[in-house]
Amino acid sequence: MLRRPRRLRRTAAIRNLVRETRLHPSDLIYPLFIVEGESIKREIPSLPDVYHFSVDRLEEEIKDLQALGLEHVLLFGIPYDEDKNETGAIAYRENGIVQRAIREIKRVAPQLNVITDVCLCAYTDHGHCGLLDKNEVDNDASLEVIAKVALSHVRAGADMVAPSDMMDGRVAAIRNALDGAGHPTAGIMSYSTKYASSYYGPFREAAGSAPEFGDRKSYQMDVANARESLIEAELDASEGADILMVKPALSYLDVICRLKEYTNLPVAAYNVSGEYTMLKLAVKEGVFSEDVILETMIGMKRAGADIIITYFAKELAKQLKEQG
Ligand code: PBG
Ligand code: ZN
Repeated sequence: MLRRPRRLRRTAAIRNLVRETRLHPSDLIYPLFIVEGESIKREIPSLPDVYHFSVDRLEEEIKDLQALGLEHVLLFGIPYDEDKNETGAIAYRENGIVQRAIREIKRVAPQLNVITDVCLCAYTDHGHCGLLDKNEVDNDASLEVIAKVALSHVRAGADMVAPSDMMDGRVAAIRNALDGAGHPTAGIMSYSTKYASSYYGPFREAAGSAPEFGDRKSYQMDVANARESLIEAELDASEGADILMVKPALSYLDVICRLKEYTNLPVAAYNVSGEYTMLKLAVKEGVFSEDVILETMIGMKRAGADIIITYFAKELAKQLKEQG
């Protein structure tokens, strides 16, 4: 036998030498849920080991993340229910929940990369990601509000904004608003390929953002479509997106792979709440060893993800540290 692939699997050192895909803590983005109130650090029932934090409890958590070598957070704000209305206007208040969280994080850790989710569903009383016209989500009317939200986050100090609403033209609307207000260097990580997925269930419980009626299928993508993701990617790139994203990740590895071949922009994968909880519960029940978490993340990177947004970020950073 001339070719013996096992030669390159014989020792740990050799396997390390020829490994094609690696995961590093700086690839990971950790989502944080910020709630109104004081001295709150409360486990989220639908997301085991993930917490709701009030702004005054962020400092400790941020220092924890930095000690683990994590450099990026993605913020989700959860306002008081009674502050929600038809237009989601509280989402762009200077003193809104996300805006205060950004300022606190920048005070504690100026170097941390602060990315904010930009959407209206957690701020509207109807729970849709845009403004309603009768019972339909009005694309063009929503753009103005979404751009205002993004600008308010950047004014508070966010490094990047991540629009997740799936309105057509929102990247251009945000880019224009940021540039027009003198923020040409603030980045946009676009949820360019976001499917109408059932895997968001635990998140919607955590964020109180489930739609009051209907579903999101008139704006989020049909789960059966892959080529369409390239249309979305092309549009978002041409409108000025800096990073493109596929969400969810695990049932869409083919889409990550195609997008990576199609674009030269960095590709992010969002390992969403349902994917997290599914695996987390299985590990807690002893169905798998915790090695399954790293294996799963490597799968996303091997498919082409440069960046992974995951609730496992802290756990992974610990595992990577232990492995040296
Ligand atoms: C808001 C938003 C959602 C997620 C991220 N931003 C929920 C949704 O679109 O219904 C899902 C994140 C997750 O499931 O982890 N539009
Ligand atoms: Zn939304």
